[in-house]
Amino acid sequence: MLELKNIYGGYGKITILNGVTFTIPKASITTVIGPNGAGKSTVFKAIFGLLNIHSGQILLDGQDVTRQTPRQMIGHGVTYVPQGRNVVPQLSVYHNLELGGITASDQTIVRKRIDMVMDQFPMLRKYSGKKAIELSGGQQKQLEVARALLLDPKLILIDEPSIGLSPNLVQEVFQTLLRLRDQGATILMVEQNAKAALAMSDYGLVLELGQTRMHDKATNLLADPKVGQLFLGGHIEAANAV
Ligand SMILES: Nc1ncnc2c1ncn2[C@@H]1O[C@H](COP(=O)(O)OP(=O)(O)OP(=O)(O)O)[C@@H](O)[C@H]1O
Ligand SMILES: [Mg+2]
Repeated sequence: MLELKNIYGGYGKITILNGVTFTIPKASITTVIGPNGAGKSTVFKAIFGLLNIHSGQILLDGQDVTRQTPRQMIGHGVTYVPQGRNVVPQLSVYHNLELGGITASDQTIVRKRIDMVMDQFPMLRKYSGKKAIELSGGQQKQLEVARALLLDPKLILIDEPSIGLSPNLVQEVFQTLLRLRDQGATILMVEQNAKAALAMSDYGLVLELGQTRMHDKATNLLADPKVGQLFLGGHIEAANAV
């Protein structure tokens, strides 16, 4: 569904990605893990047309989409939820949702889909008239995820959805992602909360120094002692056991 072939790229002349290669199948969830600064967010920017790609190729359903603009990627059914807070604080929840469908030619469909995502996230209906800034951090993240769904994307790039969320809300976001996958969407996610994320994922990808280090079924990565020690807090558990 999505294929990256030996991607090199970065910001201006600085190279951050040093040969990223992986393929993910349709209707699957893949979690990207790796240390801070490994280039996880940069991979998403590369896919979404926000990076200077020096060489390599990105294929979406077999079509070459290397160096397309974000607008073109949206047109291909790709959506991107960046790391951090991305709602428009002074706009209402409803207007923030509308922004998710701003590129659609048929706004009637957008309004129908706003209704659908409000069914999925009832909190958004309850607070639809409130300014986004008045929501809690977790509620704002739900708003962002909901907004990303407005164009019925086939590929969802979601960077650290659980940051700042209570464990309950993390599970809610994960459940939403699972539901979307079951409906046929493909999801590529970065998560600090690596253990919980891999546990609900089909595949895992370990990125280090801008390179793919491992790519395997999530269950295999979870069972790998080396991955456990480096990325899943295994060393902390070992220390606690002493
Ligand atoms: N806009 C930018 N301009 C220049 N360098 C950048 C920019 N954004 C990120 N970098 C650099 O690229 C490298 C990879 O950053 P990236 O954000 O992809 O890491 P990450 O794996 O997502 O880390 P984290 O877990 O902290 O989110 C870092 O060295 C970072 O300093
Ligand atoms: Mg990041």
